[in-house]
Order: sequence, then structure tokens, then C-alpha cells
Amino acid sequence: MPEPLVVFLPDEAATRRLARTLAPGLAGGGVVALAGTLGAGKTALARALIRVLTGNPDEEVPSPTFTLVQGYETPQGPLWHFDLYRLSDAAEVVELDWEEAVAGGIVLVEWPERLGPSLPADRLEIALALDAAAGTEARRATLTGHGRWRVRLAGLDLTGLDLRGRP
Ligand SMILES: Nc1ncnc2c1ncn2[C@@H]1O[C@H](COP(=O)(O)OP(=O)(O)O)[C@@H](O)[C@H]1O
Ligand SMILES: [Mg+2]
Repeated sequence: MPEPLVVFLPDEAATRRLARTLAPGLAGGGVVALAGTLGAGKTALARALIRVLTGNPDEEVPSPTFTLVQGYETPQGPLWHFDLYRLSDAAEVVELDWEEAVAGGIVLVEWPERLGPSLPADRLEIALALDAAAGTEARRATLTGHGRWRVRLAGLDLTGLDLRGRP
């Protein structure tokens, strides 16, 4: 099993810092699976990543809860932001251009467990969780590199992040 990395995020500014750290690793495309309960901060982290990757800090990033997918253009190529909460069957992702997205771009996907067998083997998994004991804004992000992301994650410059070792 790949070794997970735990990052403490005391507030939303820390979540934005995490996005800035991760963005260079996504320049060549890749899948980021954003797991965690409702309100954990999946969309907040996706929004921060999209704003870094598009280079537009004011980019409108609605939650794709109802549209299921929202596309963006970035200097590094196309980016797709999926929210699969309302997906009733894993096979339905095909209709959302899932395969095209994974083959050629940057993919941020909330509720990745809905993908079932379509979950890509190469992915950066980020599990977000509330850390109520540390305050209402506190979160913990557990990062796991699967497949090719094992090496990619190890290659990121994590300076400035509050690392908390293993979960
Ligand atoms: N450290 C943090 N990281 C991310 N979101 C935070 C943080 N602290 C507070 N929040 C707030 O928590 C909420 C997270 O909502 P959202 O990102 O939509 O969650 P999800 O997509 O996981 O359901 C937002 O209102 C956001 O402003
Ligand atoms: Mg969300």
C-alpha cells in the first residue's frame, strides 16, 4: 500500500496553500479524487485548484452538484471538475465524457467512490475530514498517491505545509 501523507489545514487559507502546492504536479494532466463527507471542503479545494490552474483568482467555480461536470480551459490544457454525488450508476459517467477527460486532461472528482470500476488506477486521492477538536475551520487532508501518483506525490515540494505524519 502507498504511504499516505497527512496535512493539517487549520483554516481555508491553508486549503488554498495546499492547492498551490499541488498545482505544479497537475500541469501534465492527472486525476485527483476528492473524498470526504458533505461540507468537508472538497469543492473548496477544487475551487482553489481551479483558480491556481486557470491563473484567474476570480474564476467562478460553481459546485457541479446538479450539472455533475463543469469544464474549464487552463494554460496546461482542459480541466474537468466532476461531482458524482447524484450519479445513480457508475456506467453513467461515460455520458459525461469521463473517458475523454481522463485521457487528456486535469480531472478533479468529488465522490470518486461513485465511479466503481471506472476509478482510475493512477490517481491522487485526497480524503478531507473535519477536525472539530481544532476548530470549526480545521480540516485534515490525507493524501495517497496511487499508481503513477506514488512517485508524483513524492516529487512535490511540500514546504510550508503542516505535515502530521501518518493518519
Ligand atoms: N479549512 C477549510 N477547508 C475547506 N473548506 C473550509 C475550511 N474551513 C471552512 N471551510 C468551509 O467549509 C465549507 C466546505 O464546503 P464544500 O467545499 O462545499 O464541501 P464539500 O464539497 O466537501 O461538500 C465551505 O463553506 C468552506 O468555506
Ligand atoms: Mg462539493
